[in-house]
Amino acid sequence: MVKDPKGREKPEYKRHVFICTHEREPSATRPCCSAKDSLEVMKAMKMAAKKEGLLDVRIQKSGCLDFCENGISCVVYPEGIWYSIKNQEKDIPKILGHLRTGIPNESCKMKFED
Ligand code: FES
Repeated sequence: MVKDPKGREKPEYKRHVFICTHEREPSATRPCCSAKDSLEVMKAMKMAAKKEGLLDVRIQKSGCLDFCENGISCVVYPEGIWYSIKNQEKDIPKILGHLRTGIPNESCKMKFED
């Protein structure tokens, strides 16, 4: 039987996190999450989740999620909760709390009216 590197026989992530790492030229008309070090943020969140033993979540980079001005854009499924990561040190623990408990963190949810 085929197993993934974590020993699972089928994909059963409790939650799936996408963090935009899209990159644009500095002259582009829209901003990009990559310019806000989103790849490093994604890596830091992965490491923090692993350190906490959250093995049933998948955290990965994504392409542009279309809310570039609100980035770093992050979305958590299955809840479909969108976050703006503005402060890595403060926001990663808050989002990890969501991953651990299933309760979204209100303080770093993306504000679509901005
Ligand atoms: S560049 Fe990140 S949401 Fe568009």
